[in-house]
Amino acid sequence: MFGTIILLWICVVFVILQLKSRRPKNFPPGPPILPILGNILNISLENPLKDFERLRKSYGNVYSLYMGPKPAVVINGMEAMKAAMVYKANDFAGRPQDLFINETTQRKGVILADYGPGWKEHRRFALMTLRNFGMGKNSMEDRIYGEIKYVIRQLETSIGKPFSPQLMFHNAASNIICQVLFGRRFEYDDNFIKVIVGCFTENAKIANGPWAMLYDSLPMIRGLPLPFNKAFKNVEKLAKGLLVEHKKTRVPGDPRDFVDCYMDELDKRGEDPASFSEEQLRMFALDLHFAGTDTTSNTILTGFLYLSTYPHIQERCQQEIDSALEGKDRASFDDRHNMPYMQAVIHEVQRVANTVPLSVFHCTTKDTELMGYSLPKGTLVIPNLGSVLNEEGQWKFPNEFNPENFLNDKREFFKPEAFMPFSAGPRMCLGESLARMELFLILVTLLRKFKFSWPEDAGEPNYAPVYGVTLTPKPYNMIVTLRDSQ
Ligand code: HEM
Ligand SMILES: *[C@@H]1O[C@H](CO)[C@@H](O)[C@H](O)[C@H]1NC(C)=O
Ligand SMILES: *[C@@H]1O[C@H](CO)[C@@H](O)[C@H](O)[C@H]1NC(C)=O
Repeated sequence: MFGTIILLWICVVFVILQLKSRRPKNFPPGPPILPILGNILNISLENPLKDFERLRKSYGNVYSLYMGPKPAVVINGMEAMKAAMVYKANDFAGRPQDLFINETTQRKGVILADYGPGWKEHRRFALMTLRNFGMGKNSMEDRIYGEIKYVIRQLETSIGKPFSPQLMFHNAASNIICQVLFGRRFEYDDNFIKVIVGCFTENAKIANGPWAMLYDSLPMIRGLPLPFNKAFKNVEKLAKGLLVEHKKTRVPGDPRDFVDCYMDELDKRGEDPASFSEEQLRMFALDLHFAGTDTTSNTILTGFLYLSTYPHIQERCQQEIDSALEGKDRASFDDRHNMPYMQAVIHEVQRVANTVPLSVFHCTTKDTELMGYSLPKGTLVIPNLGSVLNEEGQWKFPNEFNPENFLNDKREFFKPEAFMPFSAGPRMCLGESLARMELFLILVTLLRKFKFSWPEDAGEPNYAPVYGVTLTPKPYNMIVTLRDSQ
């Protein structure tokens, strides 16, 4: 009996060793692949960014890692990033369509939709609709200012005492995108927003991480009572309610917001809506809300962390704001052209914030080549955007917070090519223009009115962020005071 077990065991080990995966011919190099586990021991699932940097030193700008039996190709540095995302745009514009994503998104929406007509139509529609909000009454700027009022009110009640801005900026970013999508905001303690934000954050962590890959490779974890499955259903229900309400009150041809625009488009398409449908709209709205909330709020939080701990930079911003806006009661996005220093600071904040460090994962749409390596169709691609934002040789000061990175000799604002926090190519962030407007108007308006400082008893600031799909600054307090001039 005992002998048989040992014999069986030896056979199993032998078979596993035979199965040991090897990289396909001319595939990007990487650490040796263990049976079953692949390379998961080579990276920390908690925070792989340091490991990615270390592996880059051993294997170069393009290397591969096996997440279990499935390979992923990591792209580092500006040269390789552009070679893939820009010069071979079509080959690299897919999204992995694995089981996890299939099941949670039901192939709807835009962020995780694969490269194809449905994605393209929705992306084009969103870009056009967001652009049209830019003008006229109830413009994008008005919607943003509508929310800034509440932020100011909250800051005014917190003057002089330590204040944690995390929740406030999170809610503000969420409300701005709700203004765009649904034409309304939610009180900061509204249940709808709490549920949506909580659940989407959870799902995103999973979809863009090693767990989703393991979910596909290891059938046994699929049966686990994963909390996000249920939470996801709840959110869909909530969104459905919101759309029903909208349908009752809308006036066709006179859209109040994004949802109305989509419904007008559905009317226009009539019998032949192609990929447009109400179900799509539901997922689309949730997608946009998710994509626009954590990203923007974590960037702003990073901004105030640095501004309150670099007072001389904050003061220079305020001097520039005071003189550029003299006599105006509020800033408009066009004023940025008279504020090179402020522009440099905002871009530098985005650079060090590295808000979406690994972008959203891509996937090759056909057999292709990158930097001399062959990648078959369907290969998972991880764009390491952080490796571009602090790449040696691309920046005057890659490893410190310094607005000089975006100022030329004549003190004019300039944007180095390696500035790609929104990624690059056809999948590039669809909300870039909205995000840039929010960052500018919120930072300028608040810096004009308030001074932000680091509490004396708070110790040394810790700039190291918490890892996730979006990097989040560690919770901190700041002290808000009214500026003398106001
Ligand atoms: C500072 C704020 C933001 C940052 C840093 C950011 C960054 C990114 C990045 C890195 C991607 C992935 C691009 C790729 O796959 O190559 C992305 C995609 C996307 N973002 Fe943003 N984003 C921000 C704000 C927003 C806002 C406000 C919206 C909402 C309108 C938005 C909507 C989207 C959408 C819909 C996608 C998916 C695009 C596609 O798959 O075609 N983002 N964003
Ligand atoms: C990867 O992990 C294996 C197993 O733990 C280890 O032997 C190897 O040295 C690691 N390689 C790298 C480059 O980290
Ligand atoms: C995801 O769904 C699509 C269509 O519903 C199907 O063609 C595809 O094979 C599915 N992918 C996986 C990994 O199940």
